[in-house]
Amino acid sequence: MKKLRILSGMRPTGKLHLGHYVGALENWVKLQENYDSFHLIADYHVLTTNLDTNHIYDNTIEMVIDWLAAGLDPAKSPFFRQSQIKEHTELFLIFSMLVTKARLERNPTVKEQARDLHISNIIYGHLGYPILQSADILLYKGEAVPVGEDQVPHIEITREVAKKFNQQWGKVFPEPQPLLTQFARLPGLDGNAKMSKSLNNSILLSDEPETVKQKLRKAVTDPQKIRKNDPGRPEVCLVFTYHKKFNPENVDEIESGCRSGQLGCVDCKLKCTEKINLFLEPIIERRKKYEADKEIVKDILIDGEKRGKEVARLTMQEVHEKMKLG
Ligand code: TRP
Repeated sequence: MKKLRILSGMRPTGKLHLGHYVGALENWVKLQENYDSFHLIADYHVLTTNLDTNHIYDNTIEMVIDWLAAGLDPAKSPFFRQSQIKEHTELFLIFSMLVTKARLERNPTVKEQARDLHISNIIYGHLGYPILQSADILLYKGEAVPVGEDQVPHIEITREVAKKFNQQWGKVFPEPQPLLTQFARLPGLDGNAKMSKSLNNSILLSDEPETVKQKLRKAVTDPQKIRKNDPGRPEVCLVFTYHKKFNPENVDEIESGCRSGQLGCVDCKLKCTEKINLFLEPIIERRKKYEADKEIVKDILIDGEKRGKEVARLTMQEVHEKMKLG
């Protein structure tokens, strides 16, 4: 049976953290076995909120090293940058004619972003970036898109765009479905609901054991558990969420120890540190090879971009034929 096509994408924000792993990468690594996957580096998307392009390339390399270290295999699924495959911009332009301004203004994720960043007068390209994302997905005829909840509105727009195009000019595109990641967001070390580099509350996939220990030592726990023997509430403690993810075999013990007051936060954090470090060990080990020779990473991109480009070129050929553009 033919494998379903997956298109997944991430903005190149540099080194990745555990939240990226839990929310996306882990899923991508699993899916690459049973799907025909394409992995997009959404470098043009960065411009929607930041015009400083000086770090995009270095951030791309760092992110790709983390992809490789986490177990994504470029031989199975090509990695490529949006900016290197011109077909993205062309399909974006055509799709821009299929979506109204009001439709874009209803997108809750863009609204939330504008609110969080205190943007009162949104840039045209920012408002329209779900259309660019539709082009990212449909250029490769992606049928499934592994994303978190926040990206679902963009996939809805993608389906509408595909449908409109197909009705107007004839069937070219599938109507893709989101593949939701199972684990909810990983909270940050400061107790924020989301681990995020800009909030400075993250554990990086490249953090050494001692760094992880220091970071966890300072992590926020249940504010009502002040002394070691005070009973705690695991459900409000972010360290407990980390245990659930990285120490599943001992969660019951951790939970009862915390609730009864037998387990203090210092010991609980040390147990958690140990498990996270065990988890990170092979990732850090795999990272070394690429860090020592970044040319390997550049070659992986060149190869991925060749393979991505070939698929994109064929799709655009079909688009031109259907539209009778000659
Ligand atoms: N918008 C996504 C994010 O901010 C990144 C992205 C760009 C993407 N193009 C994509 C995700 C295509 C999935 C498919 O995380």
